[in-house]
Amino acid sequence: MTRAPHTATSHAAVQTVLRGADWTSDPRRASQVPDLAADALSSVLLFMDAPDHTRVRGLISKAFTPRSIERLRPRIAEVTEELLAPLREAGALDVISDFAYPLPVTVICELLGVPAGDRDLFRSLTPDMAAVIDLDATAEEYGRSAGAALTFTAYLVPLFEQRRHDPRDDLMSALVAVEDAGGRLSADELLATVLLVLVAGHETTMNLIGNGLRALLRHPDQRALLRARPELMAAAVEELLRYDSPVRRVARVARHDTLLDGRPVPPGEQVIAMMHDANHDPTVFPSPDALDINRDARRHVAFGAGAHYCLGAPLARAEAQIALSALINLPDLELATDEPQWRPIATLHALESLPAAFVTGRVSAAATTR
Ligand code: HEM
Repeated sequence: MTRAPHTATSHAAVQTVLRGADWTSDPRRASQVPDLAADALSSVLLFMDAPDHTRVRGLISKAFTPRSIERLRPRIAEVTEELLAPLREAGALDVISDFAYPLPVTVICELLGVPAGDRDLFRSLTPDMAAVIDLDATAEEYGRSAGAALTFTAYLVPLFEQRRHDPRDDLMSALVAVEDAGGRLSADELLATVLLVLVAGHETTMNLIGNGLRALLRHPDQRALLRARPELMAAAVEELLRYDSPVRRVARVARHDTLLDGRPVPPGEQVIAMMHDANHDPTVFPSPDALDINRDARRHVAFGAGAHYCLGAPLARAEAQIALSALINLPDLELATDEPQWRPIATLHALESLPAAFVTGRVSAAATTR
């Protein structure tokens, strides 16, 4: 019989697991680890420990500084407008497939230097890839994710070759150059890193935009406040990350005998840090189930904490701020249903679709009173 894994649910316990030296991110150190997953994961930043983690993270972190992301804002706004214009004409949209998916995928493809025209390929492969981070994934799902990784590999390797001969001003060329310089990034790490940035760069941001818009449309007072006071948008995005966290949980493994919340945890035991629960810890966030864009939500752990803190946080924030501000300012946009379809993956809180409509009656009413 398998025992239920230890979970950390309070804000303090999640911080301990994510920041403490008693825990490793390497799933191969767990006493129960699916065989299929083990080898494939060793070059993935998310699952590395120091010193490899420090080396690989250092190489990509330059691309994600707040300053380099600030420079992307005008382009993010442009893509947002390009996507929304035809949807206004159409009168109805699926917020996920028509907007929340293509926006971050376009931006991350441009940052990496992957042709955005190939995004339909990612659309079909990414959900399979997500099994890599799903703690409940079955052997079959792991198998599918390995298949998706192979297809991605076959797609990316010729692009690396192209950049090797014809470098451009993009993240892929920079990483290929580092690999070529020898020693600092292995071929496997190059591939795993580009894949991780590509998948992490849109899957989660799509969910932040989807969950965030859903929350705001279900709280008209908060939406109205944000429309009246756009300077609250940065704080609102922190509150939305807290309120409906796109990544629900991450795993760690005890390095040695240790204690969590006073309970003994033996070496090799997996512990699940429940980030959404920590973000609803009433001792840190009073009335945690209320959406309140005026609260200071900055202590949320939606991007993790410690050495593996999300590298893409500045990009995700910029995209969500720009996207949500455009969406809530469409005066007549409303949810078409209040029965959300969630994807069957416990690690992410991810909408399958979010149908919305432009309530045109109101627009014409507004137009006639103008
Ligand atoms: C709302 C959007 C996002 C959320 C909620 C999110 C969440 C997270 C979390 C919780 C972790 C830590 C995992 C752990 O500790 O095991 C993480 C790591 C990471 N994220 Fe994000 N992420 C988001 C967007 C992005 C974007 C846009 C990118 C890239 C462009 C990105 C790239 C990464 C990378 C590379 C790591 C690994 C960092 C490391 O292991 O050192 N993420 N993210």
